[in-house]
Amino acid sequence: MRSLTLLQYEAEQDRVLWELNEAAGAIAQHTPHEQQNFYYVTVAGAASAFPVMSMSPITFSSFPFIVGLKMSLLDVTVFPKDFAWGAAIAAYQIEGGWNMDGRGPSIWDTFCHAKGRVFEDHTGDVACNSYQLWKEDLKCIQQLGLTHYRLSISWSRLLPDGTTNHVNPKGVAYYNKVIDDLISCNVTPMITLYHMDLPQALQDLGGWNWTDIADIFESYARFCFKTFGDRVKLWITLNEPYVCAKLGHEDGKFAPGIKDPGISVYLAGHNMLRAHTKAWHTYNDHFRSLQGGQVSLALNSDWAEPLDPGCPKDAAATERYKAFTLGWFAWPVFCTGDYPESMRFRIETRSLDVGYKQGLRLPHFSKEEPTPLGTADFFALNYYTSRKVKDLSSAGKNNELSFVGDQGAEGVIDPSWPICGVQWLAVVPDGLRKLLKYIKDTYSSLPIYITENGFSKMGPVQIEDADRSQFYQDTLQEVGKAISQDGVNVKGYFAWSLLDNFEWNDGFSVRFGLFHVDFSTPELKRTIYRSGREYAAVISKYRSQTKPKSI
Ligand code: GAL
Repeated sequence: MRSLTLLQYEAEQDRVLWELNEAAGAIAQHTPHEQQNFYYVTVAGAASAFPVMSMSPITFSSFPFIVGLKMSLLDVTVFPKDFAWGAAIAAYQIEGGWNMDGRGPSIWDTFCHAKGRVFEDHTGDVACNSYQLWKEDLKCIQQLGLTHYRLSISWSRLLPDGTTNHVNPKGVAYYNKVIDDLISCNVTPMITLYHMDLPQALQDLGGWNWTDIADIFESYARFCFKTFGDRVKLWITLNEPYVCAKLGHEDGKFAPGIKDPGISVYLAGHNMLRAHTKAWHTYNDHFRSLQGGQVSLALNSDWAEPLDPGCPKDAAATERYKAFTLGWFAWPVFCTGDYPESMRFRIETRSLDVGYKQGLRLPHFSKEEPTPLGTADFFALNYYTSRKVKDLSSAGKNNELSFVGDQGAEGVIDPSWPICGVQWLAVVPDGLRKLLKYIKDTYSSLPIYITENGFSKMGPVQIEDADRSQFYQDTLQEVGKAISQDGVNVKGYFAWSLLDNFEWNDGFSVRFGLFHVDFSTPELKRTIYRSGREYAAVISKYRSQTKPKSI
């Protein structure tokens, strides 16, 4: 049987092997920087098209087994010089080694070890075992040819009780190794300090609902800047405070599993913003001039449009939906130093209705503390999907406390949007373009990094994941349009995720990787998906086409 792998890119040796050429008896090797063209090729008998690269246009007569030919529509030249081509992961989702070498427990360890909370009681105890198999991950990173890699630090691996009173030297050594290896392979690290995994010891003291948490986070951040900041220049303080607050403190679906509708969600979110603000100021005052890096926080957002564009109530609901999601964290940081007015108005009005004093549910920022305004050096956006929004302002009982009740809006999926894997993930690549423009127009002209974006799969594993490959092509094309047609300053794109991993309360049933991980064997073998090969081909094409021409 003929091999279906047409293109093999060997990043380590910086060359492309064309396997079908080899099979045909004429070995062709091209160095990526000489490649000019990027084609999809359909081979007789193959289910779908493959990306191949060639120095000169491919013709049917030279390769009779090719039955279809389509040039990639993705114009990589629109991506600016020094564009970050990345992939992202998070510590709890891949590291494993949950109790190894002095790591303290985090809220996700506790959450998963209590039965019935995660799909089939899966845990991140082992996950991809990246704590021990880091070198395997590095090979994957190199195989893709990534320029950037976004990872998160496990706070409790570094500081087992969450405070700088106890530093775990083996945790420090692990992240030093990862950072050094990345840099020696010419890959720029982007480090997230907090990606959902609070040390359990801090949760026991009140977690994100506890006022002191902001200062404790600041000490942790200071420790990281001091220890790793000589080499790390891109920092994310918090990943998706919306998700941590809403799913962790309102719905109870994520650790720490608190269900306290309409109360904790705002308090936790507020303390997260205070923590971010303090960390940014510490970097700004004490590290920036020495280290020259940049700090931001990663905000998730859907793109949202009114369900009925002609209905003023749906239009108003859409504005509230945006205010309660992206606006909740972006407005204080990029616009005014306080929450969006519409959010405050709804929460205050409803507080009175249910007998709460004003200002109690949605806290105010103290004048005694530094303001969140201006505490981002770039905009970090996690985008996955879009929603049509309908008005809910007069639905349900008015005396019931809840975030959704406060918001008075509900996001629904347009039936025409395809769903990939998990139910919530409707595939809407052009929503990303619209959102990027909206951010530029509403919030900031700072550079934007798309710090997460991806496509999930469930059910039987398909290494030839044509749908995910197509998704990345379509999405990158929309990003390209945002840059070239809408003038958005997009600086980078991080695919979620490098590896199939522990997808929070869906466990390992949902796969987002560019590499498949075989969780059924102890070796946890990584195998590149077709989407990974195609992403590598895009990056390679970009490198070859944007490299300065030699005279
Ligand atoms: C994000 C989160 C990631 C990942 C992704 C896919 O909200 O930051 O950790 O799980 O969603 O669901």
